[in-house]
Amino acid sequence: MPGESTKSVHEAEPFDEGTGSLVAPIYETSTFGFARAADVPLAVSGSGEKGYTYSRWDNPTVVRLEKKLGAFEHAGGGAAFSSGMAAISTAVFAFLEKGSHVLAIRDLYGGTFGLLHDILPGLGFDITLVDTGNFEALERGVKKNTKIVYIESPTNPTLKVVDIGKAAKLAHSNGALLMVDNTFASPINQNPLDLGADVVLHSATKYLNGHADLIAGAAMADAERIRKIKMTRREFGGTLDALPAWLVLRGMKTMAIRVRQQNASAMALAEFLSTHKKVASVHYPGLKTHPQHRLARKQMKGFGGMLSFEVDGTAGDAMRFTESVKIATLAASLGGVETLVSQPYNMTHTQMSAEDREKTGIPETLVRVSVGIEDVNDLIEDFRRALAAV
Ligand SMILES: Cc1ncc(COP(=O)(O)O)c(C=O)c1O
Repeated sequence: MPGESTKSVHEAEPFDEGTGSLVAPIYETSTFGFARAADVPLAVSGSGEKGYTYSRWDNPTVVRLEKKLGAFEHAGGGAAFSSGMAAISTAVFAFLEKGSHVLAIRDLYGGTFGLLHDILPGLGFDITLVDTGNFEALERGVKKNTKIVYIESPTNPTLKVVDIGKAAKLAHSNGALLMVDNTFASPINQNPLDLGADVVLHSATKYLNGHADLIAGAAMADAERIRKIKMTRREFGGTLDALPAWLVLRGMKTMAIRVRQQNASAMALAEFLSTHKKVASVHYPGLKTHPQHRLARKQMKGFGGMLSFEVDGTAGDAMRFTESVKIATLAASLGGVETLVSQPYNMTHTQMSAEDREKTGIPETLVRVSVGIEDVNDLIEDFRRALAAV
């Protein structure tokens, strides 16, 4: 088995035998011509055996990316989307039936929270959101009609760790699927399918692409489930276009090396923040003080580049910190080469009511950090200076 860096560079990247081109071509076309009418039905069937029909269905550059996505999550296949939310909503709808119940943790990315908390109940689906830190609450939440158990781990932005293996057993013993948003960990640090999950979801905008220059999403699962997701994608229409697919392919070539650096820098930054007198608490699964550190050690290969901390002060102090950093930037999103800081309370999690933010542990003083690949000593100095301004 090749290592992750070798896979990052070479997986699904054969050189083009016709031209010798080392890099994948970009098939920027909406439609595909046929020389023989007899080939049309097979291409239209979506069997993948014969040709392409229309780029909302499938496209050779996108299919190449999907091979790479599938390989990184040890899946039978992958499906690429125009955003992480397109991947999440399409995958969820692909497996919902009339009268289905969806059980999820409450610590969800704001967009996913909006989908489950606001949109699905309005369509008549039964949804239960439970406390993330308490696995028994998840166990108690299962119903006869539960079709999907949906989790993130580590969670956004509180970095709670959910036991993926246990959640998979719980889902399966009730005939439901386990879906895991693996965006925060990246496939370099965690592979939920190996732990028993059925569908893995990513905002490919983040670590997969890694360069903060596009929006994309991904779903990975066994071949049959990916086929179902892709058939649903045809009608929902959130397919990724060839040009951003090519950029994600390029971004993924450096994924292993980026993420390993981000793991190391996040650990150093978390340790620095833990000892700072203006920091009330630090949330990072790599710290021994993290409540689920042992579980994180068991199910993750690295602890990731995301952390959050509470400023020991007011909402205004947290705000001042985010605008005082000079190397880091105050911005939403994560997983790129640039370090970003944000206040989830008023940026990424505004879909939640103040009460839900409170329940989830997202106070106004919480700062989320996406650690980039800058020199870690420069980052520590930047944070030290910004905390002095608080
Ligand atoms: C954990 C997580 N899941 C999903 C998404 C949604 O992804 P996108 O913005 O690519 O639609 C995000 C975006 O920030 C996220 O952080």
